Amino acid sequence: MPAGIIPAAYIAASILFILSLGGLSHQESARRGNLFGILGMLLAIGATLWDGAVTGYTLIIVLMAVGGAAGAAVASRVEMTAMPQLVAMLHSFVGLAAVLVGIGSYLDPGTQFTDAEKTVHDAEIFLGVLIGAVTFTGSIAAFGKLQGVISSSPLLLPGRHLINLAIGLTCLWLGYVFLGADSNAGGMWPLLLMTTLALVFGVHMVMAIGGADMPVVISMLNSYSGWAAAATGFMLSNDLLIVTGALVGSSGAILSYIMCRAMNRRFLAVILGGFGTTGSSSAIEVTGEVIALSAPETADLLATAGSVVIVPGYGMAVAHAQHPVSELTRNLKQRGVEVRFAIHPVAGRMPGHMNVLLAEAKVSYDIVLEMDEINVDFPQTDVVLVIGANDIVNPAAQEVPDSPIAGMPVLEVWKAETTVVLKRSMATGYAGVDNPLFYRENTRMLFGDAKESIEQVLTAL
Ligand code: TAP
Repeated sequence: MPAGIIPAAYIAASILFILSLGGLSHQESARRGNLFGILGMLLAIGATLWDGAVTGYTLIIVLMAVGGAAGAAVASRVEMTAMPQLVAMLHSFVGLAAVLVGIGSYLDPGTQFTDAEKTVHDAEIFLGVLIGAVTFTGSIAAFGKLQGVISSSPLLLPGRHLINLAIGLTCLWLGYVFLGADSNAGGMWPLLLMTTLALVFGVHMVMAIGGADMPVVISMLNSYSGWAAAATGFMLSNDLLIVTGALVGSSGAILSYIMCRAMNRRFLAVILGGFGTTGSSSAIEVTGEVIALSAPETADLLATAGSVVIVPGYGMAVAHAQHPVSELTRNLKQRGVEVRFAIHPVAGRMPGHMNVLLAEAKVSYDIVLEMDEINVDFPQTDVVLVIGANDIVNPAAQEVPDSPIAGMPVLEVWKAETTVVLKRSMATGYAGVDNPLFYRENTRMLFGDAKESIEQVLTAL
């Protein structure tokens, strides 16, 4: 094989990955972005298999077939609402792979490193295993919280910051012992002990983070999985893995920053868990009465409105209501009503969740607005239709200083003339916080499954 083909393929794959990330940042180009990513990954896998250093094709092909089939089966069956859990699970695999490759690479480095080279290689292993282990168990805990098998409220152990500090300092000391060890046997115990501590730390860190901060946790674990992959790339001297890992790591870090800004949280406060929160009860005193509305009454309200803003939330995804919502939009537009959508950055359960659903239902992009673009328009809006959203429209975030969601920017729907909230009951949203919006004078509740309610409104229209 001519020299230079593999590095050239790796560079081409890296460029495709960068184009993919660029494409994914806009709805119009997201499909193209995905395609670039797929092509880049095919090229990367093809080039790696073709590399002369690879042996044992039978095992590789069998494992790829099993893993690929399992991945395809799970991904094709997963509900849109369960996507964050799937992503958390996939992050845990990257973490586990980094741990196993690190330990494997220590037992059998392939090349015999000496002096400074050995120290650098060992440091890569130590860091890779550390990040990988935290990512592995942290992602499993995040999966449990998102799936609802673990309570979403923060588990705040007494002295938790001291526990974290003790784990951090012990890992530093173990790193010192590991790098100083002159035999595999001497280095193995600090490596394995650190791995155990990092596994415990991963669970402890995520368990201490409350439900409302989960968006930051997911993007943070996304970032960690990237750095774990980059560290694996260093261990294996694979440039493409380093570049790809760094892309995932840095884009995850930027996403975490965006999520923190969207929720008015400090990143450090989120990952340290419970920092800056008082741990106060979510119960707030709500006054006023709940006024229910029927579907035909809602239809009347909408048909006579000049401007309508639709706020979709997690409940729209659960109910699969995006297609009737899109039809409702067309219907109202034909009647001369101005209809726009307001998207909160953490609506639903993953970044861009609502945008994906609306795009799937062919809602045109130009009427889908971000929170900052639309918040100023609510006072001039006749009707706001809140479809299965709760936390993102909760005025307590602005009005109740010790609320768990205090300070989180929200869509100020209560400023519109009338707000109609579609949900099944008076239950709280993901953060478990009561919502005074439902008791406001200008709020009406249309109880029922969001899809059925919208279909009834359409029939009445
Ligand atoms: P939520 O606050 O979770 O509220 C969703 C509401 O939808 C619930 O109150 C529920 O009330 C209603 N609902 C559920 N199924 C329904 C159905 N079939 N028909 C009608 N309504 C239904 O959602 P949100 O306002 O979108 O806020 C998102 C929350 O998730 C935030 O707290 C955010 O921090 C968190 N989170 C977000 C992400 C990302 S990255 N977006 C990731 C993890 C967590 P009923 O049960 O009464 O119907």
